[in-house]
Amino acid sequence: MNETIFSSTSRPEDVKDTLRKVPEPCAVVIFGASGDLTRRKLMSALFSLTCEGLAPAEFTVIGVARTKMDHDSFRERIQEGIEAYGRIKPDDLCQKWPDFAESLFYHQIDYDDPAGYEALVELLTGINQERKISCNNLFYLATPPSLYPIIIKQLGRAGLAKQTKDSWRRIIIEKPFGHNLASAMELNEQVHRVFDESQVYRIDHYLGKETVQNLLVFRFANAIFEPLWNRNYIDHVQITVAEEVGLGSRAGYYDTAGVMRDMVQNHLLQLLTLTAMEPPAEFNAISLRDEKVKVLKAVRCIRPEEVGQYTVRAQYRTYRDEKGVAPGTETPTFAVLKLFVDNWRWRNVPFYLRSGKALPSKVTEISIQFRHVPHLMFPLPPDEQLPPNVLGLCIQPNEGMNLRFETKIPGAGMRTHPVDMTFLYEQDFGKGTLPDAYERLILDALHGDASLFTRSDEIELAWSLVDPILQGWEGRQAPALAFYESGTWGPGKADEFIQADGREWLYGCSKSRIDAKDCSD
Ligand code: BG6
Repeated sequence: MNETIFSSTSRPEDVKDTLRKVPEPCAVVIFGASGDLTRRKLMSALFSLTCEGLAPAEFTVIGVARTKMDHDSFRERIQEGIEAYGRIKPDDLCQKWPDFAESLFYHQIDYDDPAGYEALVELLTGINQERKISCNNLFYLATPPSLYPIIIKQLGRAGLAKQTKDSWRRIIIEKPFGHNLASAMELNEQVHRVFDESQVYRIDHYLGKETVQNLLVFRFANAIFEPLWNRNYIDHVQITVAEEVGLGSRAGYYDTAGVMRDMVQNHLLQLLTLTAMEPPAEFNAISLRDEKVKVLKAVRCIRPEEVGQYTVRAQYRTYRDEKGVAPGTETPTFAVLKLFVDNWRWRNVPFYLRSGKALPSKVTEISIQFRHVPHLMFPLPPDEQLPPNVLGLCIQPNEGMNLRFETKIPGAGMRTHPVDMTFLYEQDFGKGTLPDAYERLILDALHGDASLFTRSDEIELAWSLVDPILQGWEGRQAPALAFYESGTWGPGKADEFIQADGREWLYGCSKSRIDAKDCSD
């Protein structure tokens, strides 16, 4: 069946340049500089920003870690990382690697030793004087989370959190932000002892994805969808974040986190808030985050004794054989949650959240299933009804969206078939035009725009929803952990769970599951 393709009427380049603002001169200081995140993501993002002409003048990047290394070995390591993982490679058309490398420094530190921070102050002061720039600093915590309180305290002690009217200091804090509500609250307190909330940028890289931001544009820059965006027209919403990969080499972290802390508490709840929120009056950090917080406050809490009714948890069958996991571990690698947002717009509309590792493919999508037509004039066999319309917001891969609706199959009778009207980023905006999430988020932090970062109250609310579920799963009355084969869509229990509500898992961004219905007499 042919599909209809949306096409843009004017090219985005026409407007892009008016939005390209370069941040003020500053130094980015990355703690955890010898780690994987720095090598794979952060440096690639900073290099891409440089190549795109979006990095500040006299841009300086200082990597800080415990490993002993000189500046040149650090530069080599970073170059290899960018060559392997970067969107823009040093040998591509961008000729800026030599300048970028010259602005890269390494500083060895023992995280709890004040002397290392005093030496960092000296290094920063020297660079600022040489480059004649003011001391604007963006600190990035990319270390194991247990080090966050130590580094934050030492930054405060060294005077590195202080701002003046001519210079700013900000801090990006990687996830996981806390392990549960109590630890997140404690960490917020430790942060606020040193930094004002306006200086703090808690990162969730899903908010940096173009397709996630596009949810806001789709909903609030178009007049035709918002009137339908409520309980009168929407039957339910499914948010799926599926991953093909298993545990990899992350047992140390993952086996104590599991899918709930690793994916649901942050990425999936962020997708839920953007899908369910009311239109903010303005696009700024306060209005946007206020609306997201309202959604989290309206989400009905699943109490520990209700986990059997509203959740499924499972583990892929070979997980316990993975290197580094605890013997007999019960850590779930797959979860389904049924949540309700108790407000006028969403009352009684279920939001099914589903995430797992070792599934058949990597796909993140939000499927909005609309209600069935109230009355069908075309005859169908008894007990059959036409599939309802589904809007698939395709976050990744195949970034774009699909609107599924019924059409008449040409020829005699009234046979209908669902078709997809599809928009693909790649098709309209070109291949490779989507920046990595970290590029967008670091640039926003350099500009001082916290709209796409998580506020302290938001993170605590998210934990307050997740905590009772974890208690239920870990408690004595916990329903038994289910198991699934790697490469399948989770345990049979997940299918039974949604089928019990008379629904099916949707694949709004793939066409494989469409069946024709015969509506002829
Ligand atoms: C991270 C999780 O936050 O997100 C990982 O810790 C997960 O376990 C990753 O693999 C998924 O991110 P993305 O952008 O690849 O969907």
